[in-house]
Amino acid sequence: MLSVSRMWAHRHLLGIEELTVDDIRLVLDAANSILDRPEISKSEDRKSGLLRGRTVINLFLEPSTRTRTSFELAGKRLGADVVNIGAATSSVTKGETLLDTVRTLDAMDTHVIVLRHPGSGAAHFVATRTRASVVNAGDGAHEHPTQALLDALILKRKKGCIEGLVVAICGDVLHSRVARSNALLLGKMGAEVRLCGPRTMMPPSPAALGTTVRSFEHMQDAVAGADAIIMLRIQTERLEGVSMATTREYSRVYGLGPRLLDFAKPDAIVMHPGPVQRGVELDPSVADGPRSVILEQVAAGVAVRMAVLDLVTRARKETPSQAVS
Ligand code: NCD
Repeated sequence: MLSVSRMWAHRHLLGIEELTVDDIRLVLDAANSILDRPEISKSEDRKSGLLRGRTVINLFLEPSTRTRTSFELAGKRLGADVVNIGAATSSVTKGETLLDTVRTLDAMDTHVIVLRHPGSGAAHFVATRTRASVVNAGDGAHEHPTQALLDALILKRKKGCIEGLVVAICGDVLHSRVARSNALLLGKMGAEVRLCGPRTMMPPSPAALGTTVRSFEHMQDAVAGADAIIMLRIQTERLEGVSMATTREYSRVYGLGPRLLDFAKPDAIVMHPGPVQRGVELDPSVADGPRSVILEQVAAGVAVRMAVLDLVTRARKETPSQAVS
């Protein structure tokens, strides 16, 4: 599936922060060729699949529809044995620690642990304590690398090149791991990143995410001339102690409707990682409108996760000492 001349050196995928521009390009190229070949991207190939005989465990200790399902499909389409564990059905509800859960999975000779966890840093913690490859499927407000990679794949396919694009990321930026991973990735790839949201939902130092990342106070300025707008859900699960306007007030100021969208480039695309709160951050006419690529993002997610599972398991095979990060 991938060109062997280009090396991927990571046993884990923990965050965009650890990736080089070449690493990002490698994942995007691999995922792009999967998307272009439906015979790979849509069929389960359990006999000759690249992950045949390998076990992928999706350990999702936070709710998820898209990410969990797409990791499951990605693993199955590569021929892996895929097991899903959710918070409600795991022994976490009986008081088992994350470390004991991971040790238990390790004892069953698991090759990849795909982890979603409410705590920032959970994937890094697990990665140093398991023989499996760890793929971060979202850790608290920290990172969601495969979401940023699939968003980048959509941008590349729709716009040709990421460098030089103007991308507005709007809403609850501070508590969103999607915003953080996207800003890091787009900054590394040379896009102009504009962050906009209520003051209590903005990161204190956007430039720390990348030299091309800046904050905007007004949505109209953030969206003006943008090639793409990534809208974010308010991360209510992480909002303890944050004062917030009413939903109606929020959507009036920060929601994306047709009038605000008119300030973007005429061919601008509208993105959202899902789940969408219709009528809050996105007007339904925009969510379902011709500029929305939300469902294409979902399809790209399966391809990106197939590429990532392939790459991390290759790195594992090629580096038996497992000295790489
Ligand atoms: C995002 C997440 O879980 O961080 N969703 C996703 O993975 N598709 C964004 C969100 O929940 O708002």
